Amino acid sequence: MVEAQTAPVWLFAYGSLIWRPDFDRLAEVPARAMGWSRRFWQGSHDHRGTPEAPGRVVTLVADPDGACDGVAYRLDTLVLAATFTALDHREKNGYERVDIDLELVDGKPLRAITYLAAPGNFAWLGPAPEAQIARQIASSHGPSGSNLDYLIGLGEALRARGWVDNHVFALENEIDPTLSGQRRR
Ligand code: SIN
Repeated sequence: MVEAQTAPVWLFAYGSLIWRPDFDRLAEVPARAMGWSRRFWQGSHDHRGTPEAPGRVVTLVADPDGACDGVAYRLDTLVLAATFTALDHREKNGYERVDIDLELVDGKPLRAITYLAAPGNFAWLGPAPEAQIARQIASSHGPSGSNLDYLIGLGEALRARGWVDNHVFALENEIDPTLSGQRRR
């Protein structure tokens, strides 16, 4: 019997899904989302803060001059429904699944799904001075741990792959210059 061919399904990760993926995946490749920037503009009521004292986590914001480096995971289509059920739960605080166009290292395009928290969603916090965002991150805690651990985990994952994100590194620098990629570079 000939097995049905299933089209590959790719998931683009740009935040905690880079450094804490907890789903079945068959492959991963570095990928870049042109026209998007990673920003700590989304509130976290359920992971890195509480409804009374939300933390801040990343989302992608449209930015014509921006580019966001992340990881594209090829998902295991045999367990796709279960994977998305778990991810939808993990990303339930204002994120929606959307399609995104990526560029691979060799310049080839890749269409993927990503979890994006759009402006105006119920947990949206929006822009603020980086010193203020850093203070909020330094003081927030939630069921998944401290907001600072989220920032550090992300910063380390970016540096480990040789990626620069001035927003993320500036926030680290505000909190502790010894953490910061800006100081190391
Ligand atoms: C992602 O990592 O791609 C989404 C945002 C997050 O869970 O931190």
